[in-house]
Parts: sequence; structure tokens; C-alpha cells
Amino acid sequence: MALVTTKNMFEKAFKGNYSIGAFNINNMEIIQGVIEACKKHNSAVILQVSKSALKYAHPLYLKKMVEAAIEETGLDVALHLDHGADFEICKECIDYGFTSVMFDGSHFDYEENVAKTKEIVDYAHARGVVVEAELGKLAGVEDEVNVAAGNATYTDPDQAVDFVKRTGVDSLAVAIGTSHGAYKFKGEAKLDFERLQTITDKLEAAGFHNYPIVLHGASSVDQNAVATCNEYGGQIKGAKGIPVEMLRKASSMAVCKINMDTDIRLAMTAAVRKALAEKPEAFDPRGYLGDARNDIVAMVESKIINVLGSTDSMK
Ligand code: G3H
Ligand code: 13P
Ligand code: ZN
Repeated sequence: MALVTTKNMFEKAFKGNYSIGAFNINNMEIIQGVIEACKKHNSAVILQVSKSALKYAHPLYLKKMVEAAIEETGLDVALHLDHGADFEICKECIDYGFTSVMFDGSHFDYEENVAKTKEIVDYAHARGVVVEAELGKLAGVEDEVNVAAGNATYTDPDQAVDFVKRTGVDSLAVAIGTSHGAYKFKGEAKLDFERLQTITDKLEAAGFHNYPIVLHGASSVDQNAVATCNEYGGQIKGAKGIPVEMLRKASSMAVCKINMDTDIRLAMTAAVRKALAEKPEAFDPRGYLGDARNDIVAMVESKIINVLGSTDSMK
């Protein structure tokens, strides 16, 4: 039972052909919902925090709530900075006691991404913290329609090997067709599994044995949650995510970390909208936030079973 890095989690996940879920946390109900599901299935987990989450809740509050969750459940939890934009925010989180940070330099040119990532890796490793970086840009919905444009931002396998070699980064987020948010595909869902396999093969050939790959933008956008939101006053039209079977396939390959935020937002919003619409006379936040927390538990349980395969990963 501890706040741990992702090192051991990823080693076991790679060998066991499963993935660790990385869920974005912003408040107590989300933390408790995710943790309760992981406890039920004896699953290790990554709780990740974006810059806007840090601003919303304060790093100290988030860290203390995560510590409480670990003390209560005995689970292994990694506390991770999601999409760190610069050295300063990575340093701040490392100094707060986060066990993992992501530096997202994917929008910089390649050499700048290498240099900035390396600087953070050096700072983090000296303090026992692991680093995730990103190479290639995640396609947006527009890119997905135009395959050629989408392809241009996918991760280049040779560059991935060079990047890992030169930065010493512990895991790599790749662009193979996923994207952030609720509108991932206009047409048919498609991921470039061949590219994922090539990246892994080239890393293996270069001596990076069982190198962990990260998949961002991996929410499935549950159509029941979308329908509930819309039934109770929401206007979420044309939302589409990554099919569960594709995520399971990625988990069985080199993908060891699957990032999900949109699915939490949808589960929570659907529950709150429904509760408030069905009981207009109620005004106790513990009612509708309690419903939201219950629905997060159910959603995360289904991720563990159907997407990640991380049941009993604490063993
Ligand atoms: O990848 C981004 C995450 O979904 C976090 O989103 O910056 O609105 O907290 P946020
Ligand atoms: P989704 O928007 O698909 O949930 O992705 C979240 C994510 O990648 C956070 O880093
Ligand atoms: Zn992301």
C-alpha cells in the first residue's frame, strides 16, 4: 500500500497483456468513485491531474485526498501530472510529492521537445519520479476525416526510438488515431495498430525491452451516458469515442496506460442531470453527487473488466 511510481505497474501490465487505467481527478467524488471500483477489483490505478484540475482543487488538497484513499484501501496508486506544459509545472508537482509527471512537448519542434523532455527527466529521476512524454500530435476530429492530414501527425516509429534513447523518458504517449474529448470520429472509428506494433518492434530491437506505451484520448464515450444527458436537458450531439474492443486490443499490445477523462465527465453529468430532473424538490448536494459517485464506480468497474483487464493487478 503506497503512493508508487508507474514502473512496477507497467512492467507487470506489459507482461500480463493488460493496461493500467489513468483517470483524471478533480474532486473528492471522482477520487472516491475511481478508488472504490479499483478496490472491488484489486486493481492498481493512476490518478492524474491536469493543470486546470490543479487550479480548480489545489495540488495539496488533491494529494491529501489521494493519500486518504490509499490509507483507506491499501491500493497502489500513482499520482501523475497530466499534460505538463513546462519545466516549472513538472517541478512543482514533483516537489509536492507526485510520483509521475507528463511533459507534453508535442507542439514543439522535435529538437526542442527532446531538450525540454530531457531536462525534466533529469530533474525527476534524481528524485525517484518517472516521466511520460508525447511524440506526434493526437488527431482532432477534423484531422480524422482527412486521413492524409491525420497521418502527418501520427508518431513516427524511428523518431520514437531516437526520442526514447536521447531523453531517457520512462513511457511514451503516441498518436495512432485517438483524440481528446467527446467527438473523436465523424465516420468509422479507426486506430493505426500496425504503427503501434512497429513502434514496439523498433524499440525492442533498439534494446528497450517491454517499453510501455501510453494512449491518450481513450474514452469510449458511452452512448447510454450521452443519451441520459440529452434526455434530461443536455445537448451533446454526434459524440463518439473509441470502441471498447479496440482499447482491449491496445491493452493486450504494448499500451500499458489508458487515459480516460471524458467518460468520467459524461457519467457524472448524466447522473447529476437525471437526479435533479427527477427530484426537483431536492437540494442536498450529497444526493446528486452521491448518485454521480455511484455511476463513476460502475463506469470504472466496466473499464477494469472490459477495457483494461487490470483485475487483480495488485497481486
Ligand atoms: O487531456 C486533457 C484532460 O482531459 C484534462 O482536461 O484540462 O479540462 O482538466 P482539463
Ligand atoms: P479523453 O478525452 O478521451 O477522456 O482523454 C483523456 C486524456 O487523454 C487525458 O490526458
Ligand atoms: Zn491526454
